[in-house]
Amino acid sequence: MTADDLDWVPPGVDTRRANVARVYDYLLGGSHNFLADQDVGRALAAVEPEVRAIAWANRKFLGRAVRYLIQAGIRQFLDIGSGIPTEGNVHEIAQAADPAARVVYVDVDQVAIAHSRAILAGQQNAAVIDADLREPEKILAHDQTRRLIDFSQPAGLLLVSSLHYVADADDPAGIMTTLRDALAPGSYLVICHGTSDDRPELMSAVGKVFNRSVATQSHVRPGAEILRLFGDFELVEPGLVHMPLWRPDSPADVPGDPSRYWCLAGVARKP
Ligand SMILES: C[S@@+](CC[C@H](N)C(=O)[O-])C[C@H]1O[C@@H](n2cnc3c(N)ncnc32)[C@H](O)[C@@H]1O
Repeated sequence: MTADDLDWVPPGVDTRRANVARVYDYLLGGSHNFLADQDVGRALAAVEPEVRAIAWANRKFLGRAVRYLIQAGIRQFLDIGSGIPTEGNVHEIAQAADPAARVVYVDVDQVAIAHSRAILAGQQNAAVIDADLREPEKILAHDQTRRLIDFSQPAGLLLVSSLHYVADADDPAGIMTTLRDALAPGSYLVICHGTSDDRPELMSAVGKVFNRSVATQSHVRPGAEILRLFGDFELVEPGLVHMPLWRPDSPADVPGDPSRYWCLAGVARKP
């Protein structure tokens, strides 16, 4: 299938090459992915049978974190590595609580950007920008970011399963310092990040399958390194934990062994 066959595929997208956003969309059961993405998803499931449940646990954590921030009074959100819109988009959750809530989505994937633009058509309070997490100054200076986010007021900064696509060589710590410094006191930082702590051999196998097929490489990290990405922000309870353990809606939502869900999730407040 070529991009010409589908009217929602932006020009220039190579549908024969798998990519991060579309593999994740496939794992969530979405429809904005192609055979190459589905092949990678199936190969991942062959080495990690729970990979779809893990993708969903990530998406559900995002929803719980946004609802927590809304309850904490946050009304403006910068969501970096926002992905292809799917169930529980940040603006839908935030604007259900307050129609005036504002959201800037950021991604580098052209399918994610095109589909986000389509669902945000006519929205005054939400926008998507084509920008790279590895260039945080450009994100902060972007017209739409400046239009929708008032950096003198508390905001929610979301990096949900996007930081593990930033290599050490691209200085994730420095990127996070720039982003944290831009926020007003009382702002919140939400991070979900793959960890190598619990099942290093499995993570190595998953990484090999992913990295041999997808141009953007994944870089899972030890929990101690993920913790440092929060800088001096104060983690709210229960701290940095496996995703299902972060303020579950119901005890029944917590699986028997949460460490099988190999991403650590946390929310921290800028003092
Ligand atoms: C696994 S998806 C997560 C989507 C969403 N945050 C969620 O948790 O449901 C990761 C997203 O990060 C995006 N991404 C990866 N590297 C990026 C970068 N350097 N700058 C911006 N986005 C990036 C991918 O295109 C993809 O849409």
